[in-house]
Amino acid sequence: MEESPPDRYGVVGFPVAHSRSPFIHGMFARQTAQNMEYRLYEISPVAFKTEVARFFAEGGRGLNITVPHKTAAADFATELTGRAERAGAVNTLAKQDGRILGDNTDGAGLVRDLQENLQIEIPGKRVLILGAGGATRGILAPLLELDLDELVVANRTAERARDLVSPFSDLGKVRGCDFGDLPLRPFDLVINATSAGLDGEMPKVNAAVIGPLSICYDLSYAKTDTPFVRWAWNQGCARAVEGWGMLVEQAAESFALWRGVRPDTAPVLAVLERPG
Ligand code: ATR
Repeated sequence: MEESPPDRYGVVGFPVAHSRSPFIHGMFARQTAQNMEYRLYEISPVAFKTEVARFFAEGGRGLNITVPHKTAAADFATELTGRAERAGAVNTLAKQDGRILGDNTDGAGLVRDLQENLQIEIPGKRVLILGAGGATRGILAPLLELDLDELVVANRTAERARDLVSPFSDLGKVRGCDFGDLPLRPFDLVINATSAGLDGEMPKVNAAVIGPLSICYDLSYAKTDTPFVRWAWNQGCARAVEGWGMLVEQAAESFALWRGVRPDTAPVLAVLERPG
């Protein structure tokens, strides 16, 4: 019997050549025996709307969306999940019955990595997020829903941090400040959501926020330790990890939305060889 052509998926970014998503979704598809293909689509911001519309018009089933298109993807979607609406950003588009659903699986991916893979207890903890950009916006609601003791978002400019957290204040105890205004005592969990590492830099944060029990998590990942992970180890934290697990878990959430089957992330993470 002739097999039908594979369902088409992919990731859109600019640039996107470095993306590990085709590898991850390729492993998921083999593992769950799904007849699908997953490609890289390098699309510039000016061409985003036209090219994504073309992808779906030509029968494409779903896309992951990465930098710098996550806000444009939220505008493109005909319907948003609650978590995508909260985040104001979309990392997953899915064609369903003629509509284009926009979802954001980043926060769920982070929480799943922290709780399931790393076995970290989050409720009741004091959490610090460094940076007040799109990455922070995507993870605030899922973290606050875990009943934290407190969540502080610190940024170079306090105003950006305060503006970012204010629509989330109904979900829990959260405040924004600048790096200089941070309390000089250790947090239980410190998450780097700045893009400083892309320039090989580390946000200028007082080392007092790290103690021997602190767990440090960098949303970025690299072949070698990121500047934040190096810095965190040097301050004597309990554990410092890069965001490989979040990458794989957010992909699994997208895959489950598209295909209705949840892949096993452990073998994929093992191949990506998470350091730490
Ligand atoms: P993303 O979508 O990755 O979050 P973004 O919206 O451009 O990207 O946000 C980048 C974040 O990293 C911002 O919080 C930025 O701080 P500013 O608001 O002060 O610009 C932060 N950031 C970038 N480079 C940084 C650096 N060298 N030190 C500290 N923070 C930095």
